[in-house]
Amino acid sequence: MEKDTKSCFTSAMQLEGGKNIPQRYILPPLQRPNINNNDFSSSSSSTTIIPVIDLSLLNDPLTRSQTINEIRSACDKLGIFQVINHGMPISVMEDALAISKEFFQLPSEEKMKFASGNVHDPVRYGTSMNHVRDNVFCWRDFLKHYANPISEWSHTWPLNPPGYRQKLGSYAKAVHLLQTQLMRGVIESLAGVKNADYLDDDIKQGSQLMVLNYYPSCPEPDLALGMQAHTDFGTMTILNRTEPGLEFMDVMTGTWHPVSSIQGGLVVLLGDQTEIMSNGKYKSLIHRATVNMERTRLSIASIHSLPIQKKVGPILDLVNSQHPIAYKEGSFGEFLDHISANSLGGTKYIDTLKIPR
Ligand code: OGA
Ligand code: NI
Repeated sequence: MEKDTKSCFTSAMQLEGGKNIPQRYILPPLQRPNINNNDFSSSSSSTTIIPVIDLSLLNDPLTRSQTINEIRSACDKLGIFQVINHGMPISVMEDALAISKEFFQLPSEEKMKFASGNVHDPVRYGTSMNHVRDNVFCWRDFLKHYANPISEWSHTWPLNPPGYRQKLGSYAKAVHLLQTQLMRGVIESLAGVKNADYLDDDIKQGSQLMVLNYYPSCPEPDLALGMQAHTDFGTMTILNRTEPGLEFMDVMTGTWHPVSSIQGGLVVLLGDQTEIMSNGKYKSLIHRATVNMERTRLSIASIHSLPIQKKVGPILDLVNSQHPIAYKEGSFGEFLDHISANSLGGTKYIDTLKIPR
């Protein structure tokens, strides 16, 4: 009996078009978004232009070191940047978003075939973060599944809508390749790392979790969030989206900044595993997603990490008497165990790895 109430839920999409949001979506006042930021019709003065990195320059020996400097500066200051000229055709990016939208538009019974509260399941459809446990709900439905290598995972993906496996597959493959180049650049950018290629195999064979987010238009976007403040656990997240709505926190000032988007660009966010590997030199990005009254927003987050069981600690070249080791080793697999045992807003996995000074 309990199982039934746990496995069924009301999706955010089913609430679209209502006049008010249900109580369970209403955030405590201090966690509510500043919806002035949401005014994407004008170029709001609070919009932060995040660094734009031309990836074609990373692959040219003449401009590589300058590009590595740009990556270092972006990772040091903010932990977020955009890439352009990344080699992925716009059609691949757009097709992936369009087929994701088609998935969410399927009848509920079709999507519910993938409903699961077990974070270890290879494919999961759900709403909010964890509809059984969340204190305040996120105005969001999601589909999550693994992707690298495609041959190992794509048989688990939805067959409906037709073309899903092919289109998501092309996107996932391209974004994974991009990630290998970017992670290599991030590691090279860490001053003191002597041998930047020793992680190449782990990066190539790393885990890739595709997170498709569907944020319906929301009648009270000042009271709710599509996703509450969090960091992503992996090394980096590469985000492809249809509308503005992503915000990041500047930890120096504690202020939230909306991210403006460039046509064809992809947003790169540093995750906890990079913070750990860099021994705290780079910090993972605190971010959230706002919603808006007019439009549905879709995003695809590709969350990369080293292989799921691979224990990751600080790169030892970065540890010395001035910079003592600051994190214990952890893995993506242990992170999954942690989040299935702890609720959102409880202790973060990375905090359990921090070594007190
Ligand atoms: C995520 C995420 C932000 C967005 O999926 O982890 O932070 O803009 N998404 O959808
Ligand atoms: Ni995220």
